[in-house]
Parts: sequence; C-alpha cells; structure tokens
Amino acid sequence: MSAMTATAMRTHTCGELRGEQVGRETTLCGWIESVRDHGGVAFVDLRDRYGKTQVVITPQIGAGRVFGSQSVWQVKGTVRERLEGTRNAALQTGEIEVEATHLVELNGSAPLPFDLSSDENLPDEEIRLQHRYLDLRRPEMQKRLALRHRVLQTIRSVLDRLGFWEIETPYLYKSTPEGAREFLVPCRAQPGTFYALPQSPQVFKQILQVAGTDRYMQIVRCFRDEDVRADRQPEFTQLDLEMSFVSEGDVQAVVEELLAEAFRAARGIEIRLPLPRLAYREAMDRYGSDKPDLRYGYELFDAGPWASGLAFRVLADPVAKGHRVLGLKIPAKRGASRKQIDDWTALARTAGAGGLLWVRRANALAEGPLAKHLHPSQAEALWKLAAAAEGDTLLLAAGPEGGVHHILDVLRRNLGASEAHADTFQCLWVTDFPLFARDAEGSIVSAHHPFTAPKDAPELKRSLTGDPMGVQARAYDLVINGSEVGGGSIRIHEPDTQKAVFAALGLTEERARAKFGFLLDALRFGAPPHGGIALGIDRLVALLAGTENIREVMAFPKTARGGCPTTGAPTPAEPSQLDALHIRTVPPSAPP
Ligand code: AMO
Repeated sequence: MSAMTATAMRTHTCGELRGEQVGRETTLCGWIESVRDHGGVAFVDLRDRYGKTQVVITPQIGAGRVFGSQSVWQVKGTVRERLEGTRNAALQTGEIEVEATHLVELNGSAPLPFDLSSDENLPDEEIRLQHRYLDLRRPEMQKRLALRHRVLQTIRSVLDRLGFWEIETPYLYKSTPEGAREFLVPCRAQPGTFYALPQSPQVFKQILQVAGTDRYMQIVRCFRDEDVRADRQPEFTQLDLEMSFVSEGDVQAVVEELLAEAFRAARGIEIRLPLPRLAYREAMDRYGSDKPDLRYGYELFDAGPWASGLAFRVLADPVAKGHRVLGLKIPAKRGASRKQIDDWTALARTAGAGGLLWVRRANALAEGPLAKHLHPSQAEALWKLAAAAEGDTLLLAAGPEGGVHHILDVLRRNLGASEAHADTFQCLWVTDFPLFARDAEGSIVSAHHPFTAPKDAPELKRSLTGDPMGVQARAYDLVINGSEVGGGSIRIHEPDTQKAVFAALGLTEERARAKFGFLLDALRFGAPPHGGIALGIDRLVALLAGTENIREVMAFPKTARGGCPTTGAPTPAEPSQLDALHIRTVPPSAPP
C-alpha cells in the first residue's frame, strides 16, 4: 500500500502493482480505456494518472454490465501473475493483472467527442480545448503537465536554496506604457477609473529591491493583449527574479544554475556551463537574428563590399543607398534544386524581400541568374568571400538593415529545420543589445523596457542630443534553440538617469511623473543597484516537451481570437454589471 496515493476508495493506483503484490487483495479506481472480450471474459484496461492496469472480469462478475469508454469504476480484486506469453514489458504493471471480485460504476461517460486512446487523429484544437478535461486525460498531455510541474518545483527549490524570497505582487495594477497593449479592469468603487493587468511585475520587483529584499522571485502570470501565436499567449507565466548589488554575470549565473537543474530534473539532460555569450551585433551579422538557433550552421556572409563593385545594379544600387547585401551558402551535399530555390524565393518574398538572387559554383564557373552579371574575377572573389566550394549554391538578398536580416533569418530557419533535432538543446546568452529601437512609425522606443540601464550613463546623457540609437544597454536574453526564453537587464537605479531615458522616449516630465512618479520617488530613497530577468515558463516547458506550440503545455490556453473554448469566455457582461461600473458598450462599427 502506498501511503501517498491510497485513499478511502482505493488501495493502489493503476500504475502501482508489480509482481511482488501477486496474491494480494487490491482496490483500484480509474477510467475505462479499452475493453477486449475473450469468450465472455472481459479484459479491461483501467487508467488513471499513474498508469494502467489490466482487469479480468469473468462472466459471473461482469454479467449485464456495460464498460463504457471513459466511464469511472472502482474495482476490487486479487492481483495475479499474467500467463506466460501475455506479459507486457512495455507497461509498468505488465507482469500482473487484477481478477475482479467486485465492481462499482462510480460514474458513466457520455459518448466521446473524440478518441482519447491514440495521439493520432486528434480533432481540431478548438474541439480539444472545448473538452479540455478529456484532452488532458490523455497520457501525452498528463506527461506534459507532469513535466511543467517538475520544472516549476525545481526552479522553486533552486531559488530557495540560493536565498530568494517568493513575493507576490498585485494583478490589479496601473496602466503604464511598457510596450504591449494592456487589459483594463474597471474599478467599481471609483467609477470611470481602471486598473491594468500587469504585463510583468517589473516595477514592483524593482520597488522590492528598494525595500531591501535583496533576492526576489515569483512564478507569476503576465497579461499582454497581443495576437496569439505558437509562442505567444495573452496570459502566460514568467519566472520573474530580481537581485540587488549585482552585475550581469551574477544574474546569469543564477539562471544557468536553475536551468541546468531543470534540464536534469525534467529530462535527465546535462547542459554545459557556462553558456556561450554572443553580442547582439555579432548575432545579427552571423545569423540575421537576435535569437539564433545554433543547432545548425548556415551562417550569413556580408556581400555588401563585394556587391558595391559590380556593374549589376540590382546589387550595387542598394549598397549605394546604404542598404545591405547578405548571403547564405547551401553546401553542395545539401543540394538546391530549381524547385527548392523557387520555394526559398517565395519564402523570402513573404518575409519582405523583393526577390532572391542565386548563383552556383559549377566546374569553377558561375551558374544561375546572377552568373551572366559576373566577371570571372568577381565570381572568384565571391567564392572566396563565402568560402564556396564546387557545387555550393549562394543565395543573396538586398535590403535595409534589419529587414534583410529578417529575410535571411527566415531562410536560415527553413534550411536548418530538417537538421534541428528537438532533443538537442543549444542555449546561449545574447548580450550588448542597443538601449533603444525605432517602432514602425520611426519613434524611439525601448529595445527591452524603459528601466534598463545604459552601459554608460554619462554617454547616454550626451547622446540624447545626438544619436541615442548608438547607446548600448546592460540587457541580455536567454536563447534556446532559436526561441527567446528569457530577457533581463541591470536596471537604472538613479532617478536622473531614469528621467533622461523617459525623456529620450518622448515622455514629457509631466507624463513621466503621472505614469511612473511612484517609481521615480522610490529611486530617490536609497535604491540599491539591481538587476534581474524573467523567463517564459511556457516557452521553456514547450522546448523541454519537444513542441513548438506553448498551448500544448498550458492547461487552459486561449485560441487565436483570445477565447477560452473550455468555458466560452469572453462573454458580454450583464447590463446590471455594466450599470454598476458606469460603463456603456458601443457596438463595433461595420468594417469599411
Ligand atoms: P520580456 O518582455 O522579455 O521581459 O518577457 C520575458 C519572457 O517572457 C516570455 N514572454 C511570453 N511568453 C508567452 N507569451 C507571451 N505573450 C510572452 N511575452 C513574453 C518570453 C520572454 O523572454 N519584465 C521583463 C523582464 C526583466 O527585465 O526582468 C519582461 O517581462 O520568453
């Protein structure tokens, strides 16, 4: 008997009985997974979270009973050894079976909307989510829930050992411009006012450092009103942490320790520490991305200087305009058929490219649409630049900084996809990010968030009158297999520097005061130097589970339109609820 899982209704779980228990009386509870009839004797697989056990039901015991799929039963019986040749080594309980002496149907099940016994032929995700209680009952999903639990418990225990306090921060927060669109919650007691759900506990964790907590952690829900994607949900979970009197390396060392332990506990995988570091600029130049997947090669080469000397204006003109020409080499052994090149061209177009040029080194000559525009010496220079061997194909794209990197990143990921094994993990830190970026309208925005410290505060103040884009941040991202799993920084702890950053972001002093006065005040009262990070738990667990879709590792995720099919949320509010909040809704105007 297991003290942990035995209850008033069962002596064992369905995953517990072994050869040693042969001859014992047992009581199991679980769901009917399958029934096989052998000449009147029924062989039933009874399943629960822990596993499944074969139950043998003789005609006397089972007479007149219907063992409906997924109905719930209590089975009393005797554990007996399975006959030679009927043992199942793949099953933990495969040595034994339970000969039923008494059966109680605890609850029936309506006809199932989909077959739970196989991971093939699953219905649309919407149906799975609508009946999530059935979907989560599948062993595959239970494995994912268990994995997520293990990761969370490991993180908590490592951080507890390292002296972190778990401190909860409010979900009813203040609307602050931090990047994403916010969810608003009306405040009934103060009509016309709204809380915002936090995009992250960023400001609270900094205030907790001012409060002298030294090491804070929280496994916390964050809310961002963003479009749903495979790696993005409107509510998601972060491991959030913050530390006082630290530099970048201190925060990174803590994350490395907990990551190593989480990989070990969840998957038995050892990751090599310290993790490699790659500066943002180098990551962009070599991989076209600030979250490169290092499981495969396909490094980019800069063909700009080479292209500037060509008479072929398709490549030379962009360089003259200040654009970049970047290339990617496809080794001969991988091959690049016309059809594949057409597919890559179409892919590059969807990523914003006007087109894609290609050239192949064949019999020491150039082949392909670019060939006729190249002198032999220019072809030779290109082979050298790309280290191209006989049979290698080069893809070239031109475009503005950033845009052309994105195109090559998309191509590189496509090329690498077949070589990227889900069971290999390449973790790295990307460092030395710029402090600012420009949004689609050309306005200055924070590359990470407005509380990130510049590398050099005096330089920041000088550059605000010149080019703030050149200012570097003390920010770092944790990247695993091409996915941004975490982001953090050393923070600004002096009110003047914080005010300067707000000003650079175009916040007037008045607006900065209205939005973040409480933080600026806190910084005035002995704020210690501090820094931290947040890891996306959903993304981390998805990687460990070998899936790219974070919805597969969340119990109740939202669909593309922000809905929860399990409960039917969101729904219109009752008029009386809206009256109490002094809110009137306006139907959306018809699309033009
Ligand atoms: P950031 O915005 O980079 O940083 O978020 C940290 C990590 O959270 C995950 N993440 C998401 N996961 C799922 N769905 C989303 N919509 C989503 N958005 C972000 C990513 C990301 O790396 N306060 C700062 C952290 C800090 O500076 O300490 C922050 O929230 O894995």
